[in-house]
Amino acid sequence: MCGIVGCLGFKNPREYVLNGLKTLDYRGYDSAGVAYYNDGIHIYKDVGAVEHLMELVPNDIKTDIMIGHTRWATHGVPNVANTHPHISNHKKICLVHNGVIENYEDIKKMLLEKHYEFYGDTDSEIVANLIEYYYLRENDILGSLKECMSILKGSYALAIICSDYTDHMYIMKNGSPLIIGKGEGFNLVASDASPMIKYTENYIELNDQEYGRISKDDVEIFDKYGQKVIKQYIKKDIESISHDLKGYPHYMLKEIEEVPQTVKRILDTYTKDGKYCFDEKLINRLKESDHIMFIACGTSYHSSLVGGRYFEHSNKSTSKYIASEWAFDPVFPGNKPFIILISQSGETADLIHCLKIIKENNLESLILTNTGGSTLDRNCTYSILLNAGIEVSVASTKAYVAQVTVLCLLAAAIVDDYQAIKDLYSVLPLIDEIQNSYKPKIMEIARAIKNKEHLFYLGRSFDYFLSMEASLKLKEVSYIHSEAIPGGELKHGPIALIEQDTPVIVFITDHHTALSMRGNIKEVEARGAKVYVISTERNAKESDNIVVKNYPFYLSSVVVSSIAFYLAYYVTIEKGYNVDKPRNLAKSVTVE
Ligand code: AGP
Ligand code: GLU
Repeated sequence: MCGIVGCLGFKNPREYVLNGLKTLDYRGYDSAGVAYYNDGIHIYKDVGAVEHLMELVPNDIKTDIMIGHTRWATHGVPNVANTHPHISNHKKICLVHNGVIENYEDIKKMLLEKHYEFYGDTDSEIVANLIEYYYLRENDILGSLKECMSILKGSYALAIICSDYTDHMYIMKNGSPLIIGKGEGFNLVASDASPMIKYTENYIELNDQEYGRISKDDVEIFDKYGQKVIKQYIKKDIESISHDLKGYPHYMLKEIEEVPQTVKRILDTYTKDGKYCFDEKLINRLKESDHIMFIACGTSYHSSLVGGRYFEHSNKSTSKYIASEWAFDPVFPGNKPFIILISQSGETADLIHCLKIIKENNLESLILTNTGGSTLDRNCTYSILLNAGIEVSVASTKAYVAQVTVLCLLAAAIVDDYQAIKDLYSVLPLIDEIQNSYKPKIMEIARAIKNKEHLFYLGRSFDYFLSMEASLKLKEVSYIHSEAIPGGELKHGPIALIEQDTPVIVFITDHHTALSMRGNIKEVEARGAKVYVISTERNAKESDNIVVKNYPFYLSSVVVSSIAFYLAYYVTIEKGYNVDKPRNLAKSVTVE
């Protein structure tokens, strides 16, 4: 995680670096810091958000080179010593780092023997000193970077100032993202393009195992053998990376309300005149395979559960794995498995680890991602972009719906079932109606549950998968402990937790399961639970809290998910928490 920014020759470095860090703080917000050179390296850093750092950094900075960092701590608590930038013992090297150095303890031991001292617990401080150690030994800064690249194990994106060459910024990348933005007489770097879109349209993306030297007019990139690499400039679609809130108070609300346009955009992109427009080779590969494996994390894993069921209805056997579990005991069921990875960010380290294993086994993979140009987009055999537009709020909403929508179309495409296209178009007005008319009812439930410590979501089949996502959403932003339970499993254990007034939120949108769910409601009510029911007209009872019009039952994660998202949102707003940046989390989980 962590956000990195840096600039050279830029006319207002303070503005670029601090605003850039604010744009990137979705990547981590434990602490923040900046460094610049003006007759020596100056560092300002502290724990807490970028807003706090802004108060510390002088307004009248004069410098040609500046770097900044917003941290999601992996090694060492969020304190000042662990906050980036880190400076080496002899003050030659100052850097910001995104990633995890796996062999930092060995390197630290080596440096301690050379009388280096350390002031914090990060792996990043060790890298600053390692670069300095080789630099002082050989008096060659590029040579030192090349040497370090051969030693460092793990992931890193580094922006580096060397106090002896301050008309250059040095960079190095492996595993973590780093982008250069080329301007007229200045150059910018950042973890993603969003901080730069105001200033440039030309970007260079670094590949793994590349390092380089940037001046205000020039960019030189080298591979791990020290050979110069010729880089092409790429353009980015500004709308898809802009962090404009468009008048909304929070990104989460904005992104929930972008669900209908997201579903529509996917239909417009991947279908035409009632037919599918997916890559034919990919469809054939899916048809040929006897088993579809899904690998993902968090919300994306939840969409794989829904998508997996769609493929099962298309007569494919499937298995769904949590990436961090599968990676330690990889199995490939079936004779001809095909692997679908799902990741909003396309940068999730657990999933990148899985891709490495998949490639070692010479198998093909498809990534469903919202981030074109991301590591997974570039490295999987096939890629389908979700086209949901940038998702900034840490809690994923529209990307979940986008994943489910694409999986629905893909599973239908392999059996030439065109009804799915009609069904998805048919629910668009209903999602709009939910978004326009149901908020007061959702807010009522939010106010009723906001002070509870625990609650439960219940559902069966597609409503259970939706419950899992509803529960994750609520816990990650409101910090209310919540669990999703399949209705039928209650009596096998979880019902022991139901007490007087325990809130239980129940989805009954599927007529196949409605009767059984009503039975489950009776069971929990008999133990004192306070039940809130979200149902569809066909399955409704008068006492239900929210009743929506009928729709094809298998689309509950596309339609009713909006209710679950709003509920998590309003509970959190009622509690006064930061809904877009929940504690301990980060948007893009680039560490294992
Ligand atoms: C979503 O609300 C969560 N913040 C989290 O579970 C997320 O879905 C997970 O980290 C996977 O991320 P990815 O889709 O970018 O791979
Ligand atoms: N490992 C570094 C630290 O703990 C960077 C963390 C990251 O990139 O998430 O400070």
